[in-house]
Amino acid sequence: MPTITFENQSYPCEAGELLLDALTRQGVNLPFGCRAGGCQACMLKATDGDVPALAQTNIEEKLRRKHYFLACLCRPESDMTIALPDPADRYHSAIVFEKVALNAQIIRLRCSLPEEFSYRPGQFVNLTPPDLSITRSYSLASLPEEPFVEFHIRLLPDGRMSRWLAESVNNGDFIFLSDPLGHCYYRNQPRPLLLAGTGTGLAPLYGITRDALGQQHPHAITLLHGALDQQGLYHHDALQTLADAHSNLHYLPVVLHDGAPANGAQGSIQDQFAHQLETLPSTDCDAERQPLIFLCGDTATVAAMRETALAAGIADSLIYTDSFG
Ligand code: FES
Repeated sequence: MPTITFENQSYPCEAGELLLDALTRQGVNLPFGCRAGGCQACMLKATDGDVPALAQTNIEEKLRRKHYFLACLCRPESDMTIALPDPADRYHSAIVFEKVALNAQIIRLRCSLPEEFSYRPGQFVNLTPPDLSITRSYSLASLPEEPFVEFHIRLLPDGRMSRWLAESVNNGDFIFLSDPLGHCYYRNQPRPLLLAGTGTGLAPLYGITRDALGQQHPHAITLLHGALDQQGLYHHDALQTLADAHSNLHYLPVVLHDGAPANGAQGSIQDQFAHQLETLPSTDCDAERQPLIFLCGDTATVAAMRETALAAGIADSLIYTDSFG
């Protein structure tokens, strides 16, 4: 049975057990997110012992060489000594300079653009306080040419990160950002774009939509934003203004419970998404004209819309998702 040493304490790890499971089972507070190798929030560094190859899946080469690995993919085969990431290896520092409420549950956080930080709107980063005590993934809603990075933060009653951001972070404070991750970003292809998201799943879609408009995307762009009620449509006016200024952008707000918003619909976003698919030239006998699809937000809703798109004959390679529970 391998022994894991972390901060001078030793923890047994059952044969075949994931390192993340072993340590959290024994009360160790480690950062993590998806538990599936996708977000890199659980990245740690091995200071002694062998790192299983699978635990370094999708980690960039410079960090692999320094023995970084993902705790949620690591099944130790022998004793390991591990540490939290060295901030200089893993993070960019940024200064918070704007924190505003977009509605009762969502804040917009803007931070200075870190040096040597290049990204595509719609990608995500892991945010962490300088003491590295919590890590969570947030999508980039800003554009690279803007002098800040922007995040839309949903305040969760028992969310340690969102509470810390809402209650303890002030303008002028430092925060750490990982390198950008993920593949949910605009591709300049001669196709219509269909984007659908719930809640703060709008953040990456807002970035992608503005990126596409900025690159003069010549085809139709349809953006669906779903919320439980009208208050949840936290960027309604800004998106309506954007749509008014671009004839190829169609913005469709969708609410589940209230009456239909102006120029929007009441009902489920899945139904509206299916309806939009029917109106696009998306048959599999006309693959050249299938839309590029971006789905973001609640995991179950994103999965349902993805299944709908696949059932409609959309190629899997044209669907990009960014989901969170
Ligand atoms: Fe390990 Fe997301 S928690 S990669």
